[in-house]
Amino acid sequence: MIQTIRGFRDILPEDTALWQAIEKSASELFEDFGFQEIRIPIMEKTELFARSIGETTDIVEKEMYTFPDRKGDKLTLRPEATASVVRSYIQHNMGASDPVQKLYTIGPMFRRERPQKGRYRQFYQINAEVFGISSPYIDAQLILILNELFKRLGLSELKAHINSLGCKECRPAFQKELLSFLNGKKEHLCENCLRRMEKNPLRTLDCKVPECRAALADAPSTLDHLCSGCSDHFETVKSVLNEQGVDFTVDKTLVRGLDYYSRTTFEILTTALGAQSAVAGGGRYDALIKELDGPETYGIGFAIGLDRLADIVAQVVNSSSVEEREAGSQSKFMKLLYAKVPDIFIIPLGEKATRLAYLWSSSLNIAGIRTEADYSGRSLKSLMKRADRLNAAHVLIAGDQEIEENALVLRNMKTKEQYFITAENPVEEIETLLNRV
Ligand code: HAM
Repeated sequence: MIQTIRGFRDILPEDTALWQAIEKSASELFEDFGFQEIRIPIMEKTELFARSIGETTDIVEKEMYTFPDRKGDKLTLRPEATASVVRSYIQHNMGASDPVQKLYTIGPMFRRERPQKGRYRQFYQINAEVFGISSPYIDAQLILILNELFKRLGLSELKAHINSLGCKECRPAFQKELLSFLNGKKEHLCENCLRRMEKNPLRTLDCKVPECRAALADAPSTLDHLCSGCSDHFETVKSVLNEQGVDFTVDKTLVRGLDYYSRTTFEILTTALGAQSAVAGGGRYDALIKELDGPETYGIGFAIGLDRLADIVAQVVNSSSVEEREAGSQSKFMKLLYAKVPDIFIIPLGEKATRLAYLWSSSLNIAGIRTEADYSGRSLKSLMKRADRLNAAHVLIAGDQEIEENALVLRNMKTKEQYFITAENPVEEIETLLNRV
């Protein structure tokens, strides 16, 4: 039997309802904040990622799926979306129509990491990018959007970590000081850090090797070296977040795994997946657009790990009691999630009834009422069981005799209330009954 590649997986129908509800909640929220959707290719020229994410990052050094196509061009399955969105912004000269562009995209990314819980080689991201705004208010707003989305999904134990990485004004002096610190710790550093430190000393601060982490515990931090512009910017981000009631901690060790960041960076961390891991990460990248041969303009964004987010939301939904779920079902997200169960399950008993059941169910489907008819010819008892399994809100019992007597039985499965529906005009009557017209 042929199976999926290691680190790749199917998202099965039992899980896609939750994924779709999350995606819809996110896109609705983005649209309310003025974002528009963009769809970008899954493959790009390797150079795009090498130049933006950075030659000395783990992603570019060892995690990209890169191969020559038949003509010898070097292509890469996208390991993230930011580089592609920036490429598209430049390629289509989007800034010309309006310098401010707010874009979101949802889709698969590919990184050849070691697979484990919450880490896959094909994984999904919900990605948001904003171009053309230098104000710190937009930094705060992106963190607010993440906070609001997680609140709507019923999550509470997530924590925003924020930091500032400085800019091209203050970074060089900081790097110099970091380098001299690293030179004093050389015997404790791994080979990767030793190799990367001359070219890109900030990378060492993101190293996951325990000995390096210990050696770098008291490394200088960017926060102590911010120029006044960066410092004012960061202060505004923090004070606005406080004013809006968004909980966060300042984490001076947060440097992120990609090179393009400047000023504000952030991650949303959770312990719900075992060891602490990031559900989302992002930050400012004010130099990137120019570096990719575009105009000099500002950029900032984030990406949410959808696989991880869906895992955490599933834990919360599955661990809630029936009462909690019913109380929660008032929420928009729960409504989206449970919209998947049939409104009506038609149980036809007899041949004539089965034909009519097919016709009625099709008309109800077209009218936007989620209806399922059963064609198996099995007994009322076994079909009531199937209706239960499907979580149907109502069953419509249509035996040949009920049709003859012009009185079909519509039963609300929760309240057990019963209604009689005529066999002549059941679609309209059901529509009226369900308050859909
Ligand atoms: P990133 O931190 O590399 O940032 O990824 C963002 C999120 O994607 C992570 O926090 C995590 O939840 C998820 N993720 C990453 N790798 C995996 C994996 N192998 N399996 C499952 N989930 C994963 C970026 O990608 C930046 N482009 C974010 C950004 C947008 N910055 C500015 N704009």
